[in-house]
Amino acid sequence: MRNISSVLGKLARVVSMSLVLLFAVATLHAQDVKEGEKIFKAKCTSCHKVDRKVVGPALKGITETKSEEWLIKWIKNSQALIASGDKDAIAIFEEYNKSVMTSFTDLSDDQIRSVLAYIKAESVEKPKDATNPGETAKDDNANLFMIFGLLGIVVLAIVVIVVLNRVIRTLERVIATNQAAVEAEEEPKTSKKFLAFAQGFVKNKKLVGFAVLMLVALLAVGGWKTMWNVGVHTGYQPVQPIKFSHQLHAGINKIECQYCHGGAFKSKNASIPSANVCMNCHNTITGSEHYDGETSPEIAKIYRALDWNPETRTYGNNPKPIQWVRIHNLPDFAYFNHSQHVTVAGVECQTCHGPIETMEEVYQYSPLTMKWCVDCHKATDVKSDNKYYEDLIKAHESIKKGEKMTAAMIGGLECGKCHY
Ligand code: HEC
Ligand code: HEC
Ligand code: HEC
Ligand code: HEC
Ligand code: HEC
Ligand code: HEC
Repeated sequence: MRNISSVLGKLARVVSMSLVLLFAVATLHAQDVKEGEKIFKAKCTSCHKVDRKVVGPALKGITETKSEEWLIKWIKNSQALIASGDKDAIAIFEEYNKSVMTSFTDLSDDQIRSVLAYIKAESVEKPKDATNPGETAKDDNANLFMIFGLLGIVVLAIVVIVVLNRVIRTLERVIATNQAAVEAEEEPKTSKKFLAFAQGFVKNKKLVGFAVLMLVALLAVGGWKTMWNVGVHTGYQPVQPIKFSHQLHAGINKIECQYCHGGAFKSKNASIPSANVCMNCHNTITGSEHYDGETSPEIAKIYRALDWNPETRTYGNNPKPIQWVRIHNLPDFAYFNHSQHVTVAGVECQTCHGPIETMEEVYQYSPLTMKWCVDCHKATDVKSDNKYYEDLIKAHESIKKGEKMTAAMIGGLECGKCHY
């Protein structure tokens, strides 16, 4: 009897250890994929997509066909690998007409492993809900997946324990009959059996402790993640009504942000350009060279929105606005002014919005939480060489001298102080 319960104790310990390990691995893996996604989106999307060829090859399944070691070498410095005479490297280089991939010597091996983990995760086929594009929340799915995975593990652990317990009880009975110490006991009814088993389970303190521990850990992790992510939409990337690419416009064609988002420099709102702004170029650029002389279906959507007939080059009278899906959105009770940050403080758009000029589809790069605003305010110097601060300093000097100071002297006439 002693032996059996000590074996059971050991088993429970082994099972719990491996569960804790599994748990840690699952968490780490999710973090890797997240970090990898960040790096991939910042550094690779200008040339690669996972599922299709862009400038470079589609990277789907690359971790299956090439070794990790090879991939790390290639990503750090593909030219060096080609120069070393590596056959695979030379083959892919020639297949892509010897276009040179950027070297990423600044990425550590671990960072590259994260990128590969992300590519691997993205390589798995997943259903895309095309009817409801506004709701694509990959992160949430990943979290849910992890939580359900863990729940599965716990259920499995309990099943294993149940089975073990049964085996042990049978063994005990066999021993008992062998010793012939007990006369044939009448078989208890199933409900009684279950009761006896449940009692056994509850009596085994280690098992109960373990099950409770796992449950608490699970709830804690789930709760923690959910609490921190309430209202945080980092990575939010809705599908837009027109496949407008910032990579193509702001990146490759180097159109200034100001051209389309002039508001960011002079007002609170950055503003989204109207379709008329698109027409400055797209009344002549139809993208037809990529579509056998036909107008690009995406550009045709601009024409449809404006009710513009490219044949007769006239506007009809039935325009419908393009319904871009808003990505960045602070709650109404928080006041944020673009021009104060962009023009007065001189903060680059990319500091808050990430490498927009490499994004084929815009996603939310910063968390937009209060902590995010406050942390930056604590860390960023104010540029004080402008009229506003000169006036403020003057006002302070007046108070020191005992002169009067009006609200106007501390910026009370600035339009933005009273107007949204
Ligand atoms: C400037 C464009 C460019 C950027 C940026 C870029 N790549 Fe590439 N990549 C290429 C091209 C082009 C090839 C095809 C081989 C060649 O011509 O050198 C390639 C090939 C590859 C290959 C080999 C594919 C195969 O089938 O063997 C991998 C892996 C790869 N890139 C990963 C990355 C990763 C990861 C990043 C981001 C850290 C990245 N690339 C960024 C252009 C780029
Ligand atoms: C040719 C016009 C054009 C240029 C140039 C352009 N954008 Fe945009 N931008 C758009 C349009 C149209 C949208 C709405 C569709 C979308 O989200 O992709 C948009 C959306 C955005 C958004 C997301 C808005 C939201 O819904 O929260 C940000 C951020 C942004 N642009 C920043 C930039 C930055 C930074 C630059 C310069 C590097 C830039 N844009 C250059 C047209 C432009
Ligand atoms: C300053 C000029 C300019 C403006 C303004 C501009 N574009 Fe473009 N756009 C281009 C150029 C150049 C291309 C590349 C055409 C090519 O490769 O054939 C392009 C390509 C595109 C394409 C890809 C077409 C395809 O299927 O290959 C789309 C979609 C597009 N633009 C949408 C828009 C929208 C929507 C706006 C307004 C928010 C806009 N563009 C404003 C210059 C502009
Ligand atoms: C200090 C951080 C910061 C900087 C710098 C910044 N933005 Fe924003 N941007 C935001 C925030 C926060 C929002 C959400 C605003 C809201 O919901 O009221 C936003 C929203 C936007 C939007 C969506 C439409 C709107 O006006 O709300 C666009 C477009 C945009 N930004 C473009 C730009 C461009 C272009 C630049 C550079 C010229 C820029 N931003 C610089 C933080 C920033
Ligand atoms: C990249 C750093 C950065 C981030 C992120 C940032 N700010 Fe700022 N913010 C500044 C700087 C720098 C100033 C000072 C500008 C000036 O000189 O007037 C400022 C000024 C302000 C002011 C005016 C303060 C005053 O007394 O006049 C407000 C309001 C403000 N920020 C709101 C926000 C909000 C809301 C967010 C988050 C959604 C945010 N900021 C995010 C850098 C940042
Ligand atoms: C001290 C606060 C304050 C300042 C500073 C201020 N305004 Fe106003 N403004 C108001 C108030 C309050 C109203 C609404 C009262 C009304 O409609 O008579 C208003 C109304 C307006 C209106 C009329 C809106 C309408 O619907 O009738 C305009 C336009 C306007 N302001 C523009 C500006 C401009 C431009 C500046 C900067 C030069 C500015 N304001 C500075 C407080 C201010």
